[in-house]
Amino acid sequence: MSKTAALESDLQEFLDALRESLLAALPDAGPPRAGFERLDRNMLDRALISDRPPQSAPACRHLADSYAALDGAGPLLTRLAQAIKAIEPSLRWSDAIAPGQPSFLKETYAEAMIVGAGGLAESKAVEIGLSILAPNTDYPNHRHPPEELYIALSEGDWRQNADPWVTPGKGGLIYNPFGITHAMRSGDKPLFAIWSLPLP
Ligand SMILES: [Fe+2]
Repeated sequence: MSKTAALESDLQEFLDALRESLLAALPDAGPPRAGFERLDRNMLDRALISDRPPQSAPACRHLADSYAALDGAGPLLTRLAQAIKAIEPSLRWSDAIAPGQPSFLKETYAEAMIVGAGGLAESKAVEIGLSILAPNTDYPNHRHPPEELYIALSEGDWRQNADPWVTPGKGGLIYNPFGITHAMRSGDKPLFAIWSLPLP
């Protein structure tokens, strides 16, 4: 198998593992389930992997601890962690700071698009990627039009509007409805998560 074909198969395995983890965490009905169904349809609409040079970012220094925290986390998360490890060296991590966000995030936060604009595989129908946040760091309030489903891969807290913080735990689901203000924060371990957004 060529290197590209092997990576394509690793990417498909990641998407299958993500789908399995989302299904395990989802309620049977309601807006998160409807969001997942939009995501599930849109996930099929992607290009094969594109040949871009990988790129690291300062916050990637927390990846090893994030993987270590997933040791023994059960079959679904073990599958997902293995799938992430297989594609991670090919990802382009970004330390770019979104408009209005504080400059300390350059050192303490990074994200990588896996499927979506500029990602490992291009898509106009979804954005699926990874976030990593250094320990004891707040990622302040932000908002964006598309709805968003996260799978938490670590401890860490999420918040919507001025609601209380919630701690979904490893394998837990966070559903952000269209356009809602949301934030996240890490405790004494890095926060590691997968986000997936079906685009309208
Ligand atoms: Fe978000």
